[in-house]
Amino acid sequence: MICDNIAVNAAGHLTFAGYDTVELAEKYGTPLLLMDEERIRQNVRTYKQAMADFFPAGSVPEFASKAFSCKQIYRIMAQEGIDIDVVSSGELYTALAAGFPAENCFFHGNNKTDADLRFAMDSGVGYIVVDSFWELDALDEIAADKGITQKILLRITPGIDPHTNQKINTGSVDSKFGVTLENGQAEVFVREALAKQHLQLCGYHCHVGSQVFDSEVFCDAARIMLQFVAEMQVQYNYLPTMLNLGGGFGVRYLEKQPTVDYRARIKEVADCVREVCAALSIPMPRIMMEPGRSMVADAGMTLYTVGGVKEITGYKNYVSVDGGMTDNPRYALYEAPYTLMLASRADAPVDYTASVVGRCCESGDVIQPNVRLPRPERGDILAVLTTGAYNYSMSSNYNRVPRPPVVMLNAEGDYLAVKRETVEDICRLDV
Ligand code: LLP
Repeated sequence: MICDNIAVNAAGHLTFAGYDTVELAEKYGTPLLLMDEERIRQNVRTYKQAMADFFPAGSVPEFASKAFSCKQIYRIMAQEGIDIDVVSSGELYTALAAGFPAENCFFHGNNKTDADLRFAMDSGVGYIVVDSFWELDALDEIAADKGITQKILLRITPGIDPHTNQKINTGSVDSKFGVTLENGQAEVFVREALAKQHLQLCGYHCHVGSQVFDSEVFCDAARIMLQFVAEMQVQYNYLPTMLNLGGGFGVRYLEKQPTVDYRARIKEVADCVREVCAALSIPMPRIMMEPGRSMVADAGMTLYTVGGVKEITGYKNYVSVDGGMTDNPRYALYEAPYTLMLASRADAPVDYTASVVGRCCESGDVIQPNVRLPRPERGDILAVLTTGAYNYSMSSNYNRVPRPPVVMLNAEGDYLAVKRETVEDICRLDV
């Protein structure tokens, strides 16, 4: 199996976190997003422990909550004692509504509005990750107006392409995020930040990409950023207390993809940071990392009910399910790969090829093309694996299709974390 929280029981049903998925589908209906709470906690603890063991004191992971945002996930992260990254007033509001401590929130985003900045500061947000010159000016003015000093990090674009692993790649310098290092703008950014009366510069932030399988990309980012730290020390006598290397470690969506040993990869990044700091004679800053996907992806599974099978003789087979791009837009957007299984007959021979499609009025509403499955029948339960990250958070109401509920599974039982949306909910804002 692609992940050790998935198995098949004596009834031939797929199990997830030890639960019979067919029974859960009967109990809660479909489409249904299941989340394995124990797996989330294990993923978080792996990061937290590795960062505590290998990085300087005070280095903690931040959960990039864009990957999966709802009140219960923020409660879990608060209980586990890690920080979070939020990228909108909406994510921040949800975290605070769940009781997540504001001082442990890092607020990102390339275009925070004045209203966002005011809300964040009124809430007592820990750090604002400043993305641009105009944000620096706006933030300082608002902080002055409020009579506070706001802690900030500066988002710097180190110019690394995570997929080719080439440094100073124009593609990644050409980004809407952060301020470019290569052309000297980052240096001006630091000078301006240090001159602001109402902002306290605590360090730098960078993020190189997503679904990255090795540590080399993070080591490259660390090298470039630490070199910058050393240069800024010489130039402005400024040393950051914190360096945030961003998120991005990959997860296994397909059997043929590797399993990432996060602890081992983090140790490699730490070794690199230590070496580079020693070579540059600078103290090691607290290192932060911001994983989103790798904390929640393998904790998720989506269940659908099969509506029917359309066989275009001599051409292709389509299996239609009762969800689609509204609860999982990732194939439509990125041609993202997924592993699918027939949950209600998981022990049946896999002898059929079909494209699994959703119910939206759009040909692009494909969950996954050309999957191998037992031939499904109307009423079968179909599972899409590894849907914990960027599925619920990117869901929509296209065609006024309600969002599925989120059911958490732990050792004590199964419980609703997010209720099923209704058509009345969808009409709520219509005048
Ligand atoms: N930090 C920053 C500043 C980010 O922009 C991101 C992701 C993360 C952390 C978390 O990265 P992760 O560990 O999850 O790879 N919607 C896309 C993914 C977009 C990622 C955007 N930024 C998807 O469904 O694959």
